[in-house]
Amino acid sequence: MGKAIFITGTGTEIGKTIVTSILFLVLKEMGVKTKIFKPIQTGVLEESDSFADQYWYEEVIGEEKGSTGMYYMEPAVSPHLASEITNTTILPNEIKNKILELKNQYDVVLVEGAGGLAVPLIEHSNGFYMTKDLIQECELPTILVSLAGLGAIHHTLTTVNYAEMHDIKILGLIFNHFDQYNMIHIDNVRTIHKMLNLPIIAKLPTMDSLSKDSLTQLAKTLISKQELKNVLSGGLEIEV
Ligand SMILES: Nc1ncnc2c1ncn2[C@@H]1O[C@H](COP(=O)(O)OP(=O)(O)OP(=O)(O)O)[C@@H](O)[C@H]1O
Ligand SMILES: [Mg+2]
Repeated sequence: MGKAIFITGTGTEIGKTIVTSILFLVLKEMGVKTKIFKPIQTGVLEESDSFADQYWYEEVIGEEKGSTGMYYMEPAVSPHLASEITNTTILPNEIKNKILELKNQYDVVLVEGAGGLAVPLIEHSNGFYMTKDLIQECELPTILVSLAGLGAIHHTLTTVNYAEMHDIKILGLIFNHFDQYNMIHIDNVRTIHKMLNLPIIAKLPTMDSLSKDSLTQLAKTLISKQELKNVLSGGLEIEV
């Protein structure tokens, strides 16, 4: 039985898909049978610079066509609202079973969330079923993607504290759009590391062009396979 890992961010459009892609490419290169799963996708606007994650995974990164998604809803709004607008019933059990099924077939399943941890997925008469509930229910250790610029300390600390409050294990952090010459970025990463003492898996720069090749190259130079192995196996008994 493989391991499933949740990829979340300190917000939406932080770089979860790019990070998931890099982890997928590096794990595959390590010979680890890896699968990407994005259970809930909302909103694809042609005029925006966002893309449908499934399209990216399947057309650019090389995942099997039609295999990475489950609930797809057109409106670019929170899943609980998108499901109401489109009359879609999100069933957490269906997601959980799919993750279990994938864990039986793969060594590592990378599950990309929609937005961050405090995102409502389903509205009930007496409250909300949130992303953090799904993570808890599926018992998914989590990797957190954060930006490195001004505001990153607050966003990262509040997300990690929220995760702890809900017994979600954060395996490590990945900083996106990291500028190695920017004093704020350098100090933010140092400060966050000192405050949280969590492994920093990678610091990814802003790329001029994003492709399978450029991400593979980036992964080679920025991610230590041994370190990734250690982080992923934190309490996971991953055999990689
Ligand atoms: N390191 C980077 N270099 C260049 N462009 C990037 C980088 N990281 C992310 N982007 C771009 O920023 C946008 C948002 O990134 P991404 O789709 O990975 O975010 P996300 O957190 O998965 O968003 P969502 O919440 O919509 O799933 C994309 O258009 C992506 O191409
Ligand atoms: Mg995404």
